[in-house]
Amino acid sequence: MLRSTLLAAARSGGVRRAVETNPLTRSVVDRFVAGTTPDDALRATRELADQGLSVTLDHLGEDTENISQATDTVQAYRRLLCALHRAGLAGRAEVSVKLSAIGQLLPADGDKIALDNARLICESAEAAGTTVTLDMEDHTTTDATLDILATLRTDFPWVGAVLQAYLRRTEQDCRDLATPGSRVRLCKGAYNEPASVAFRNKQEVDRSYVRCLKTLMTGSGYPMVATHDPRMVAIASDLATRTGRAPDSYEFQMLYGIRPAEQRRIASGDEGMRVYVPYGGEWYGYFMRRLAERPANLGFFLRSLISG
Ligand code: FDA
Repeated sequence: MLRSTLLAAARSGGVRRAVETNPLTRSVVDRFVAGTTPDDALRATRELADQGLSVTLDHLGEDTENISQATDTVQAYRRLLCALHRAGLAGRAEVSVKLSAIGQLLPADGDKIALDNARLICESAEAAGTTVTLDMEDHTTTDATLDILATLRTDFPWVGAVLQAYLRRTEQDCRDLATPGSRVRLCKGAYNEPASVAFRNKQEVDRSYVRCLKTLMTGSGYPMVATHDPRMVAIASDLATRTGRAPDSYEFQMLYGIRPAEQRRIASGDEGMRVYVPYGGEWYGYFMRRLAERPANLGFFLRSLISG
């Protein structure tokens, strides 16, 4: 109930204004967001890289409603990729892109605009010597996002995608994508989805996550195990051992600011750990999804508003 309310608020303009304009919100946002500028993103990348972690950078923004905003987002990614290359960090950091930030939801030709824009970002990534992963948004965009992935991969075979274990369709999507060269980031899913398309209770989502993991680990792609759940991490490591995977043939991924000690612990062993680092001014939707994932985050947020 609380989760659904917060996820509905993530798409409400009124709540957004109240949260964004509260001066006390910032300190809580800073826990999950690396800053507002590309320099902030580079600084966070360097700090994480120095600790043996890899990074995927997300220029925050989603549900773009006008074409110039979509173009600005593409330019921001292109500048960021050049800066990563110049700073010698492209071997450590890739980028994650939400197609709705680069035009997917525009009323006329949204999918085509998003594809063309994603292609520009992929060209810059290739020139910088790194990769792109397409984030996955709500279920109404899954087919279109996977179609765009398939088209992009004809020119850029290294483009990765996110699959969400809470969707009933995802086991089949994992089977389709567990192929050579394919990079799949498996997460549980962060949107408010109806029971017709998604598992709604944690046990069902976790069971689906394990089934999907099995498919990806026994397949021939590159699984990216995106979870903070200690049980899922242990199961993934175990499956990797049992399927004879080398430690560099898969990786773990976690979000910036969540379980940082565990991120460093995993990175200090044989297995890889990549941190998803969001930066930029458009943090509202991302931040509200993090609150919805864990009631304790909401308590922390409300206490900071009350106590200053
Ligand atoms: P679960 O929610 O069961 O949490 C397990 C434990 O992790 C909790 O008990 C707590 O200790 C810790 N934890 C989890 N969330 C926390 C939080 N917000 N704050 C503090 N502690 C927390 N989703 C999506 O729909 N599309 C996408 O493209 C992506 N992309 C993505 C990339 C990466 C790298 C990650 C790690 C996650 C995503 N997600 C996502 C989000 C994902 O779907 C999911 O909502 C969160 O990862 C939380 O699920 P867990 O697997 O961590 O398990």
